[in-house]
Amino acid sequence: MSASLTRMGNYYSALLEDVELTPKIREILAGLEPSAQEHKQAISLPPECYTSEEWFEFEKRAVYDRDWVCVGHTGLIPNPGDFQTINMNNDPLIVLRDREGVVKVMSAVCAHRGRVLCEGIGNVEKLVCPLHHWTYNLDGELIGAPEMNPVLPLAELKKQAFLPVLRSEIWNGFIFVNMDGRAKPLAPRLKRLTKEIENHHMGEMLGTPNFDFPEYDWNWKYMQENAIEPYHTWYLHRGIHDFAPSRLVSFYDWDPEDDGAVFHPTGFLERDANFNMSFKCLFPVIKTLTDKERRRVMFVTVPPNLFFGAVPDGVFYYIIRPQSANRIVLRVGFLYPPETFKDKNFDYIFKMAVDGLCAYNDQDVASNRSVHLGLKSRFAPRTRYAPKEKTLSQMNRWLVQRYKAYAAEVEARNHAAAAGR
Ligand SMILES: [Fe+2]
Repeated sequence: MSASLTRMGNYYSALLEDVELTPKIREILAGLEPSAQEHKQAISLPPECYTSEEWFEFEKRAVYDRDWVCVGHTGLIPNPGDFQTINMNNDPLIVLRDREGVVKVMSAVCAHRGRVLCEGIGNVEKLVCPLHHWTYNLDGELIGAPEMNPVLPLAELKKQAFLPVLRSEIWNGFIFVNMDGRAKPLAPRLKRLTKEIENHHMGEMLGTPNFDFPEYDWNWKYMQENAIEPYHTWYLHRGIHDFAPSRLVSFYDWDPEDDGAVFHPTGFLERDANFNMSFKCLFPVIKTLTDKERRRVMFVTVPPNLFFGAVPDGVFYYIIRPQSANRIVLRVGFLYPPETFKDKNFDYIFKMAVDGLCAYNDQDVASNRSVHLGLKSRFAPRTRYAPKEKTLSQMNRWLVQRYKAYAAEVEARNHAAAAGR
């Protein structure tokens, strides 16, 4: 295993080895402060934060290994034995509901030769590797290894061959994993947001199968920025976004004590509007919403990799899966109250909902790709933000804090190693 694996109670910490703080990384770190200012003063991140593979390796440790990373939603694995797999930063993971109904996140890599045990979505009683039929229970314990007894009896073998269970947390049904096992719990850092969206009861919603978009050649942070920034909606999406004009946007002030998400509502001109070409909700509106909540969409980024929009009839969400500094795979999903799925015409209406969202996404895709080309240029900008980009300076503050914390961690280890020499 390339990561250091440490048992911490009933889960494992699995950190990637530190990166070296190279001159390039130090140069970027030294230039971050102007991006982490109050909104009126803040400027965008150095362009290399979006394009440098060296910086991406730094980010995998600073952000993805040390904070909470979204890997799915409980609405896709409602029953015991249900599983869904996700490959996150080169780690094939399995998200499953065990026999007792407890959601677990574990490695999906067979402890024998490394074959990925399964892919996709399904229901199992145990996990059997197709290659040599090594078999694991839903706690990740090895329970069968054909023909291995003469080498090592199962009781011995299972001590060294297992699927490490990782620390996870569920918030509003979204399942998060923390590779290092030491992140501060997520929910206490989402207090204001939890209150704002509680009437959606997202934790009780069921999900439709995900769509993966594999060829998006831009940086994971820009995916979030485009999604959480309402300045562009009045221009890029002119016409199809007019029912939710950016003049009806409001923002929250940044609270470093409640920093688990960046979010803002956009108001609708009419009640029960939605993102499709009828500009109305296609499914029944969630019964528990207030009038105010039926007149807005709440856009939410839970950094680093979850984005969702809470609309009056459900939720659409993106799970961003970085592949490099320059590419992501986007996983898209929809959540609805269980009764919505009982509609006999669900499949037809759902197709209209998907096509509707795609109209906005198609415009964003073309633009995101173009922005990434610009960020790779020697003429790449680093500029001030518009008032309606308040969420972007908030994202920066979230990121810069984590970048600095990890750099300090590496420095401290370097000093300790030098002192011990
Ligand atoms: Fe957009």
